[in-house]
Amino acid sequence: MHTYESGLKEEMQHQSELSMTINGVPKSRTVKPWVSLLDYLREYLDLTGTKKGCDHGQCGACTVICDGKRILSCLTLAVMKEGSEITTIEGIAKDGELHPLQQAFIDHDAFQCGYCTPGQICSAIGMIAEGKAKTRSEVKELMSGNLCRCGANTNIIDAIMDVQKGAGNE
Ligand code: FES
Ligand code: FES
Repeated sequence: MHTYESGLKEEMQHQSELSMTINGVPKSRTVKPWVSLLDYLREYLDLTGTKKGCDHGQCGACTVICDGKRILSCLTLAVMKEGSEITTIEGIAKDGELHPLQQAFIDHDAFQCGYCTPGQICSAIGMIAEGKAKTRSEVKELMSGNLCRCGANTNIIDAIMDVQKGAGNE
């Protein structure tokens, strides 16, 4: 017979220990295999800077950096990233200094509600590291997976272009 206890036992068997380095700090939690990286960050580690927009890979709000590359955390199972290094918006500033992109977003007034901003900044860091975009239109194209419902896109691209130039990618 299927009892509460047997159900619980079954659930427990489906959990595994997951270890990653998050923003430079090793973290381990027991997690079910179907938990997305986005839910893992927000609900298991209380890192709520990474935002859930569509939860379907269509808005970019959940973008984080995994082993140096930008990824959509809503489309990634947490268990797939065992042993990885993850950087979220909470880990971007260093020693009390804003990351240049954070500063550029402030300087260019590149947000209104701010909901898309963590994903925009993580995505831009990944995009600049890829080194593929040389022109404004290429930056626009490679950032097109990050939507801004407030219409701050022009200022967002201005902010990214500033940092892009500083990084010698233009
Ligand atoms: S929440 Fe992941 S792409 Fe929208
Ligand atoms: S600032 Fe509101 S969604 Fe982009």
